[in-house]
Amino acid sequence: LQLAVMASGRGSNFAAIQEAIENGQLNAQIKILISDKEYAQALKIAEQAGITACFIDPRKFNDKAAYETEIVKKLHENNVDILVLAGFMRLVGPVLLNAFPRRILNIHPALLPSFPGLHAQRQAVDYGVKFSGCTVHLVDDGVDTGLIIAQAVVPVLPDDNEDTLAERILVEEHRLYPQVLQWIAAGKVFIDGSRSIVKDC
Ligand code: GRF
Repeated sequence: LQLAVMASGRGSNFAAIQEAIENGQLNAQIKILISDKEYAQALKIAEQAGITACFIDPRKFNDKAAYETEIVKKLHENNVDILVLAGFMRLVGPVLLNAFPRRILNIHPALLPSFPGLHAQRQAVDYGVKFSGCTVHLVDDGVDTGLIIAQAVVPVLPDDNEDTLAERILVEEHRLYPQVLQWIAAGKVFIDGSRSIVKDC
């Protein structure tokens, strides 16, 4: 399975996916890491791992369509099968969605459809839910609304704040994202209407 990862910041999910590949837990290859932020830590991680690292500056393009056309070009040049969003802080538009239908994944740090959008962990703490977690889903034209592939649950503890909850969720993100990609690589994920089915996992 040939992957591209897009990240805007820290890149810990990207690093976890690359680690799973190196450990033989994920039968895939990251062909390219694309960032919209010049100083993203993810770019450094890619360089250290010997993965093509590409900063594409959105300010150099007239609009989202032109920006995404450039991204699509890079993805095609690298024969990418699946586009993995890992902390990519931009909404995906029609150009990318149409170029990679049902082939763009995202991870969100809450149990969707609860707490979509920014600051999901803070939303969960503020609401007072007793469990939260993370969701791997297909990307569609909404904000964190695409079809859910898998979720992992963590407790929200009485003394939690946004940061302590985020840390607990992140451990699960780093486990779940490579796992889902391996299910896809092994042909175990099927879509049935609005639901996904993972067979023999
Ligand atoms: C993660 O919490 C992810 O769920 C969210 O953005 C964060 C990215 O973290 N979409 P990292 O850049 O992978 O460390």
